[in-house]
Amino acid sequence: MFQQVRMRIALLALSLVLIIYTISSIAVYAIVHLYVIHGIDQHLHTIAERVANEYDATGNVEITGNLLPHGTYLFFAASGTLFVKTTSSLQPVLVNLIHNAPPGEHYVDLTADGIHYRVFYALSNLGKQGTDILMVAQDDRVELSVLNNLKTVIFLVGLAGMLISTLAGFFLANRVLRPIRAAWQRQLEFVADASHEMRTPLAVIQSNLNIAMGHTDESILDNLEWLNNAHSETRRLSKLVTDLLTLARSDSEKLPLQIQTLSIEEVFDKVTDLYSSIVEMNGIRYRSEIAASAAQQYFSGDADRIQQLLLILLDNARKFTPAGGEIALIAERSRNHLLIQIKDTGRGIAPEDLPRVFDRFFTGDASRTRETSNETGVSGTGLGLSIAKWIVEAHKGKISITSEGLGLGTTVTIELPIASPRSSSE
Ligand SMILES: Nc1ncnc2c1ncn2[C@@H]1O[C@H](COP(=O)(O)OP(=O)(O)OP(=O)(O)O)[C@@H](O)[C@H]1O
Ligand SMILES: [Mg+2]
Repeated sequence: MFQQVRMRIALLALSLVLIIYTISSIAVYAIVHLYVIHGIDQHLHTIAERVANEYDATGNVEITGNLLPHGTYLFFAASGTLFVKTTSSLQPVLVNLIHNAPPGEHYVDLTADGIHYRVFYALSNLGKQGTDILMVAQDDRVELSVLNNLKTVIFLVGLAGMLISTLAGFFLANRVLRPIRAAWQRQLEFVADASHEMRTPLAVIQSNLNIAMGHTDESILDNLEWLNNAHSETRRLSKLVTDLLTLARSDSEKLPLQIQTLSIEEVFDKVTDLYSSIVEMNGIRYRSEIAASAAQQYFSGDADRIQQLLLILLDNARKFTPAGGEIALIAERSRNHLLIQIKDTGRGIAPEDLPRVFDRFFTGDASRTRETSNETGVSGTGLGLSIAKWIVEAHKGKISITSEGLGLGTTVTIELPIASPRSSSE
């Protein structure tokens, strides 16, 4: 598919260059042609005027060498005076023109003996003593060869330009398509992973319901175990679909943020209200702390998304911290940024897993993850940190995760630009 698109882009670029080049070449050639021919015509006309003036003044024209520059020829007949200075091959052609040309003044192109001439002629029957004839011819081979050379140059430059633009087209198309191809590849993997992740809960729901439905003689209470299994998998499936939808919308940039100025105290209070009791119910201590440097500070953000971000991170901390551990939500200021940290004393992350935790569907060592997450009833799908990363980046911030190693706790750090107090957006 990309091969075809690349070909199309290259062809499109080529046709565009070709059209522009052809139009401009025709324009340039036409202008130069007009200019050159006009120059010759003016030259012929000037000579014709001078000859006519000489004749008018003296009644007996005397054509000097000055009057006829090299390569210019004359056939002049008026009031009995005949002056002819042509080549032997040109003369019969001019005489032929006298017989066939209409009266009046005209410019024509003639060829005699392979030589090209531009000719100005004036025929008039009004002269008292027969036909007045004035013909000035100019050998214009030099000018025509200049025009021919111009044509060749235009053609050769066009050919080289076409070659270069074809190569450039392919090169540029390749460059333009590279990130698209990578995104497409990621999208394919995403869809494949998503379908795979959906298959598991669906299979579990199906098999548990099958078992329950097979026990027609038993009560619902007797089948509670199977129904519970099915129910917990529907919760997992529902979370998965919500997360997938969030990521799909964030990818297509269809998730606009409702940006407002947020106070760090208000954000922390809300999250603490929502989550501290859940953490404490799991036997984990919870601490929220705003350093003096960060107190009364504001940042621009979407309140719901920022809350979602902190809940994702607190949920991870809770999931991976055993009872007796501690989770801390800390804010401090570093230059013109707010640093928000979620620290836990839980199981930590293996150094080899650290670079991959923000990847979609990454859940680390499956056996460990499942073991710990089972405490909560709903096992992770590995999308939480991907969503967290999107939220932070949509707020022009940075997110990083560190852990000294397995069993040594984890720290997630978010960096958000500080905003001036409320007045700016409220
Ligand atoms: N605080 C933490 N302590 C230890 N491991 C963590 C922590 N936070 C994340 N991880 C590791 O990173 C993985 C990815 O986290 P993420 O939040 O993306 O997925 P999840 O929690 O497994 O699933 P979900 O958030 O979609 O329910 C986790 O499965 C876990 O292995
Ligand atoms: Mg998570």
